[in-house]
Amino acid sequence: MLETDIGIKLENPFILASGILDENGYTVKRVLESGAGAAVTKSIGSSERRGFEPPVIYSDDNYTINAIGLSNPGIEDYGNEIKIALQAGKPIIGSIFAQTPEEFASLAKKMQGYGASAIELNLSCPHVNGYGMEVGSDPELVSAVVSEVKSNVNIPVYAKLSPNTSDMIEQARAASKCDGYVLINTIKAMKIDINARMPVLSNVYGGLSGRSIKPVGIRYVYEVKKETGKNIIGVGGINTVEDVLEYIMAGASAVQIGSAISSHGVSLFTDLSKELKKYMEMNSINSIKDLVGVAIR
Ligand SMILES: Cc1cc2nc3c(=O)[nH]c(=O)nc-3n(C[C@H](O)[C@H](O)[C@H](O)COP(=O)(O)O)c2cc1C
Repeated sequence: MLETDIGIKLENPFILASGILDENGYTVKRVLESGAGAAVTKSIGSSERRGFEPPVIYSDDNYTINAIGLSNPGIEDYGNEIKIALQAGKPIIGSIFAQTPEEFASLAKKMQGYGASAIELNLSCPHVNGYGMEVGSDPELVSAVVSEVKSNVNIPVYAKLSPNTSDMIEQARAASKCDGYVLINTIKAMKIDINARMPVLSNVYGGLSGRSIKPVGIRYVYEVKKETGKNIIGVGGINTVEDVLEYIMAGASAVQIGSAISSHGVSLFTDLSKELKKYMEMNSINSIKDLVGVAIR
């Protein structure tokens, strides 16, 4: 009943979002064994990055702001983590970041070689110069990245886009050779410590996630689904089954969950599966695809 198809088949629509509990194969395996249908890796680049100095994260009940700085072990050392995560027997989506189409393609080929079932292109991290959003806000570069990656791998390729650039539809059109969109990455934001009279994060700016960004995510899922009709993976602020239903009705065929795990724990995945199943039974809905995009006008 909860199966969904985003170019890869998932036993349920709940995916671990990039950057949360996913730098290490054992934590990814644990999340998958706790009920997630799939997991996205931490965004991985060509070589190791230490990221920014602490403080790199601020959280309260409504939101999180992070500027981790794309810290990661580098692609050569990440194969072993994927091997461990794959022991859970569920799909792993390899998230990658780079500066050029060739560098993206080389990372994607390695991810495919490690056993990833799909690739997620990080075209949207808002806080690291030269990467993420800076790549994603150049439509010609986005188009070249997607084409180059598509011609080098034979697994689905998703484009994770940024809510920070002015025209989401233009970004989506530029990435139109992809197999689906992941919407949205974090929103560029900041927090001031009023006692210290300075920004909380060492990087000054960070990416906003959690409950407060959900309405923005819903808007972009709706608009991009309406414009392209392609598979969408919705992400941003999901905590409850009502949030999940909003994303699906706006056009998402699957959803990712990140910040909410810190308050709910990994049991959130099975809890949401149970609640979604209950909703579907009560409303005589046999398949998730019967709900995808039903709110689109
Ligand atoms: C601590 C942290 C680290 C993140 N790292 C990445 C990353 O490496 N790559 C990426 O594409 N998104 C990253 N994200 C963004 C999430 O994947 C997701 O798009 C965003 O947090 C919105 O979902 P949420 O509200 O459920 O957290 C990160 C988010 C957080 C909170």
